Amino acid sequence: MALRSLLVIAFGAALLAQTGGQVTYTKDRSMVLPKDYRQWTFLSSGLNMTYGENGGNAANPRFENVFVNPAAYQSFVKTGTWPDKTTLILEIRGSDSRVSINKDGRVQTNVVAIEAHVKDSAHGGWAFYGFDGKGQGGKLFPKSADCYSCHEKNGAADTTFVQFYPTLVDVAKAKGTYRASE
Ligand code: HEC
Repeated sequence: MALRSLLVIAFGAALLAQTGGQVTYTKDRSMVLPKDYRQWTFLSSGLNMTYGENGGNAANPRFENVFVNPAAYQSFVKTGTWPDKTTLILEIRGSDSRVSINKDGRVQTNVVAIEAHVKDSAHGGWAFYGFDGKGQGGKLFPKSADCYSCHEKNGAADTTFVQFYPTLVDVAKAKGTYRASE
């Protein structure tokens, strides 16, 4: 093989690794946490969001930081929907106040848990995974888990909560892929 094609392949692989677009699983069908997700495209930080009957944790409200692999983000901007191999990461952090010079408001602290939402046609379409605060685990949630029903019913675009991701709301509306929830 010519050196040039080797270089093209190496560059392509490096680009793929950098932008996600490649999901790795263990033998028991758990997901491996992408190491560089903090360098991905940032979608939102929800603060103390709750969806059920239980109220939020007033003493230590949590932040939910959402990231998506950049290649999927760029594809969403063009089409209003997520391509195959899209990986969305929800990083849940505790919070604190009166840290350093801060008097009011909240700052983010340690990672409490991480969740992933992955579109992979080779593994049955969209699936959810759960990690602990150290990024260990990656266990697949079964289809009966409420992750699937809530996201399918209430997610504004392609089972994801685009209604809460400010840079994508207008994109989905313009592309006609935005579905208003109740
Ligand atoms: C009652 C509704 C509900 C349930 C149940 C639920 N989620 Fe979500 N999920 C949300 C909302 C709302 C957001 C948007 C969060 C934000 O804006 O910070 C979200 C966002 C996410 C995201 C970011 C990407 C996306 O799809 O928008 C991941 C990953 C995620 N949830 C994983 C899970 C997992 C794993 C479970 C099950 C263990 C789960 N969720 C259960 C409502 C739900």
